[in-house]
Amino acid sequence: MTAPLLPRDLGDGLVLHPASVADAEDSFAVVDAERDRLREWLPWVDGTTSVDVTRGFLERVTSASVETGEVHATIRLGGGFAGHADLLVSPLQRSGEVGYWLAARAVGRGVITRVVAELFDIGFRDLDLHRIQLQAATGNTRSRAVAERLGMHYEGIRREAEQLPQGFVDLAVYSTLVNEWPGAAVALSHPHAQRGAAR
Ligand SMILES: CC(C)(COP(=O)(O)OP(=O)(O)OC[C@H]1O[C@@H](n2cnc3c(N)ncnc32)[C@H](O)[C@@H]1OP(=O)(O)O)[C@@H](O)C(=O)NCCC(=O)NCCS
Repeated sequence: MTAPLLPRDLGDGLVLHPASVADAEDSFAVVDAERDRLREWLPWVDGTTSVDVTRGFLERVTSASVETGEVHATIRLGGGFAGHADLLVSPLQRSGEVGYWLAARAVGRGVITRVVAELFDIGFRDLDLHRIQLQAATGNTRSRAVAERLGMHYEGIRREAEQLPQGFVDLAVYSTLVNEWPGAAVALSHPHAQRGAAR
């Protein structure tokens, strides 16, 4: 039997757990308290009207992950809920796509950059992927900075590819290929990237 992909302890109190229906209350509480910030960039926030909606989502993704190798993670920081991240896999293409969101208390500390780097390790080393993609609305500078911090290759724009409360937005597409990933690790050791690692 192969070892489970999660949990993974990333150090400094940052842990990636397998997403679970047990996270529903914590996850919904953050979405509900931080709607205005999150709905700007996440299309599902307005539809997340109760803890049951979050529970239903977590039920669906945790059963999907067993069948398809999708990785759905709950991020915990200092023991508390801090967000979700996932790696959606297309097995035939050996490609994956990362997605994520953080609770406000975890923003600005390098958390998602470290989490996505770990998802890349899982994707390239454990799931044998060839390519991993990240898409962010062109105006979502914080999310685009994650891709750039990881040294991802900027591919271009998908026009009006996502519907958000503000309307249809263009998506900036970034990718990393398996043979580029050790190079991306260098970006993480940059002094700027190290700045707040233990905050
Ligand atoms: C997108 C999102 C996850 C980015 O969060 P973030 O905290 O900016 O990203 P990181 O976790 O990589 O942290 C980077 C920040 O921490 C700082 N930092 C501190 N220590 C760091 C470290 N060791 N490594 C990297 N950055 C570090 C960086 O300087 C940067 O801060 P700055 O932008 O103020 O300079 C967050 O803004 C969010 O949840 N947004 C709403 C949902 C969303 O947009 N999801 C993505 C849809 S595509």
